[in-house]
Formats: sequence, structure tokens, C-alpha cells
Amino acid sequence: MKDFLSISDYTADEIKDMLDLAMDLKKQYLKKGSNKKIFKGKVLGMIFQKPSLRTRVSFDMAMRHGGGDALYLSPNEIGLGKRESIADIARVLSGYVQILMARVFDHEHVVELAKWADIPVINGLSDYNHPCQGMADALTIIEKFGNAKGLNVSYVGDGNNVTTSLMHVSAQLGWNFIAATPEGYDTDPTAIEIAKDIAKKTGSTLTFLRDPHEAVKGAHVIYTDTWTSMGQEEETAKRELVFPPYQVNAQLVSEADKDAIVMHCLPAHRNHEITDEVADGSHSVIFQQAHNRLHAQKAVLARLLQVA
Ligand code: CP
Ligand code: NVA
Repeated sequence: MKDFLSISDYTADEIKDMLDLAMDLKKQYLKKGSNKKIFKGKVLGMIFQKPSLRTRVSFDMAMRHGGGDALYLSPNEIGLGKRESIADIARVLSGYVQILMARVFDHEHVVELAKWADIPVINGLSDYNHPCQGMADALTIIEKFGNAKGLNVSYVGDGNNVTTSLMHVSAQLGWNFIAATPEGYDTDPTAIEIAKDIAKKTGSTLTFLRDPHEAVKGAHVIYTDTWTSMGQEEETAKRELVFPPYQVNAQLVSEADKDAIVMHCLPAHRNHEITDEVADGSHSVIFQQAHNRLHAQKAVLARLLQVA
């Protein structure tokens, strides 16, 4: 597989292998403050059509820690599909850099980029999914609970791109995925069908509910994300009326397993989808999770560049 566009493009064994490598690279980095120079002579081109803190900085630092480099290309600079066709951009960049990462609005745009690029392409978030986030999420869950099958991963809120990748990685790893979303804000139906196929092979279960309280019963992980994703800003007022019952607050957390962890991909809209009390409380792993983006992505980069 040349690209990293969806977790579901990979087998469970391939995902586990990348997570094991991520753990090793994390240990190496924490011990030495750097990594072996596996990315020496390699440059990552980073195309962003939307803002980013974690994705941009963690990819850049991942390359630097391995002796490589990264190049940030802002929305205004390259005008993906506007100033120039995606196919042309892909073929031009293939002669300049060794690997690409793209954050796009339309998932088809990252697919198109991968189709035309001669070099590997990583999806740094699209309207459909967020596979790099899913890898960091899995790493964080494994760090807390080990790689046990049968964990209950409960997602509460908007069924969005982050939900898709969390659902896919949960299905791959044999975890039970439970989502509570309001009507009209369900997870992508194609993504659900793909997850069902994976779950049949791994023994994971998938449950889709409306009631957040029912969803967190017995949960080992409670996960939420913004109610309004990038590109949906004009719907903010409407969403603020629909989503309050889905807020992850101390009451909801108290209804989960006593050792449950609370996760959020960030950026968080504090006291909307998650309260300060929970985000900064003892169950929260949100900063460990954000830091794990660095380590998970090193493994993805290393496998695609075939340097580890
Ligand atoms: N979680 C995440 O992808 O954050 P950024 O949007 O800051 O990259
Ligand atoms: N669902 C959010 C995730 C941000 C990392 C968005 O797409 O804006």
C-alpha cells in the first residue's frame, strides 16, 4: 500500500505493526530526545486547506526528529484545484519531495492527489476521516489498557471524520465501538458498512444509539469532538441547540467505568462538547493523546517511506 488515506485500507495486522513501531519510536525519542536518522534526505510536503496546530507541528517535528525535513504549503499558496489542478500539483510535487501529507475539505481531493502522485500521500484530515488521529487514539488507548480485545470505546457527539477513524481502528483492534449521536448527525453510512465488514473478522461489535447515557455505560473510553467541524461554521448556531445533551461533563463520566479515560482530538470548545472540569480532570488523557500524534505519525511515515 503506497498511501495512508484510511485506516480501513490496511489489515488489522498492518495497523498493529504500525502501532508497535510507534511505541518503539516513542521510547527511543523519550530516552534520547531524538530518533535514529531514518528520515535523512527525505522531505515531507504538507498541503493544508484548513488550519491546524497538532497535525502541522507533529508532522514537522516527526520529520526533524528522524533527520528529515518538512515543507508547509498554505491554502493560499498552492490553491489546490483552483490555481492549478490536483493532478498537476501531484505530479509537480512528486519531483520535489519524497512524501506528501494533505489536509483537505473533500475526501476525493486527497484520493485524487494520491492517484496522481508518484510518492506516498498521507491524509491529514478530510471531511470523511482523520486516520492519523485514529492511530494516535489507538496508541493512547493501548498505553492505558494494553492491547486487550473487548474494550468499550464510546463516542458521544457529532458523527464526523474523527468518529470514522476511531470506529475503523476500534473495529480493527477488536474493541467494541459505541456511538451516541443526535438524529441527522450520524456517522457516514459508508464508513459504518466498512466497519461492519472489519468487525465480522475481528469480533468487534458496533452499536449506534441516540442516548449518550446509555452509550457510556461500561465505557472504558469516552471520546468526543467539536460539534461544528471546520467547513461547517455556518451551522454553528443550529448545532449549539442540538448538541448540549451530548456534552461530556462530570455527570456523564461518572456513569462510565470507574477507570474510564476521556479523549478529545482537540481543538476543544471548552464548556461546549466537554467541560473544563472533565478536560482537566483525572480521567482526561487529551494531552497525552495530542502528543501521541507525533509518535503514531513517525510510524506511518517510516512504513510508507520504507525506512523502518
Ligand atoms: N486533532 C487535530 O488534527 O488537530 P489540528 O487540527 O490542530 O491539526
Ligand atoms: N472534526 C474536527 C476535527 C479537527 C481536528 C474538524 O474536522 O474540524
